[in-house]
Amino acid sequence: MKIAISTGGGDAPGLNAVIRAVVLSAHQRGWESYGIHRGYDGLFPRLGRGRGYWSGPERRRGGSGDGLVRLGPDEVRGITHLGGTILGTTNRGDPFHWPTLQRDGGIVEEDRSDDLVRAFHDRGLDALVAIGGDGSLGIAQRLFCKGVPAVGVPKTIDNDVAGTESTFGFDTAVSTATDALDRIHTTAESHDRVFVVELMGRYSGWIALHSGLSGSADVILIPEIPFDIEKVCEKILERERRGRHFSIVVAAEGARPLGGRLVLREGAHPGEPERLGGIADEVAQEIGRRTGKETRSLVLGHLQRGGSPTTFDRLLALRFGSAAVRAIAAEDFGSCVVYTPPNVGRVPLAGIIGKPKVVPVDSGIIMTARNLGICLGD
Ligand code: F6P
Repeated sequence: MKIAISTGGGDAPGLNAVIRAVVLSAHQRGWESYGIHRGYDGLFPRLGRGRGYWSGPERRRGGSGDGLVRLGPDEVRGITHLGGTILGTTNRGDPFHWPTLQRDGGIVEEDRSDDLVRAFHDRGLDALVAIGGDGSLGIAQRLFCKGVPAVGVPKTIDNDVAGTESTFGFDTAVSTATDALDRIHTTAESHDRVFVVELMGRYSGWIALHSGLSGSADVILIPEIPFDIEKVCEKILERERRGRHFSIVVAAEGARPLGGRLVLREGAHPGEPERLGGIADEVAQEIGRRTGKETRSLVLGHLQRGGSPTTFDRLLALRFGSAAVRAIAAEDFGSCVVYTPPNVGRVPLAGIIGKPKVVPVDSGIIMTARNLGICLGD
């Protein structure tokens, strides 16, 4: 049995722990493991990347022709605690929407999935472990429909994959964000300032809500609850009246005002999703204008994706990796491993993709935030 492992989309702390668990669990069964370099690039290095779209280091990394590496116990030694992925990753590697340079300099998306499936079989691979978020798991499902025996492993700091209580990477991101909020508190209080801290999460507010609560934010804005800036300012002024001359506002990058729009840093391009960002700055300007308080904004950004995975994320990642190998042994292809506490189980990929998990507005954690007097902007 030859297993291929792919890490796709944005990286998340815990990816290396999954890789290690897959490799060691496969090794125990006498199976071989192979890592695909940068998403699926390594399987067909002479396609897209070699046709001129990518240049410089991108071309050297993606188009070298040695994109499938044998992984044994020696290759995965000592990587459980390392952030990032030893395989590299990309969020521009969807074989169904492959960005391809045209003669006129334009870039269009092409469907290269048949080439990928052919390359998979040509290499004598028997199973694919696809580690990724909703997008990458959707690709795995489509590859499965084209005859690739695939098993998914849910990864993302955003925690927005349906069917699993948690994705690995989320706990680490929340912990990093909470630490940042603790730090911003002391300077905010010393200067009597308002800080608006923008956190990642795409279209869901899990990171903002969990770290906002843990980091004692006064206001938490999440995509699931469009906010009223009046209410936000009221909360800040009410604190002011109580002698609390500083406030911490946490804004998920996907938060938007009532009747307003999502703030984008960059629109979608061929082969690339839209990039969210900028809401903190807009909210900060508005708060400053309306309250007269000195208000600053801070975007925590990719710090949330970096660093060592927490113990929780390491364990979850190791459990996911070994469960993926059990899924292959059971020939349960087209499935995804999921965390349904206290167990790690499996669900069909088809049942969870394309419906990102958002924070239920009537959930216990939202109730907790309200009970603590945190303003959610509504
Ligand atoms: O999905 C993970 C994530 O970090 C999101 O929270 C964020 O919107 C996005 O990826 C950022 O992607 P990139 O690294 O391509 O800017």
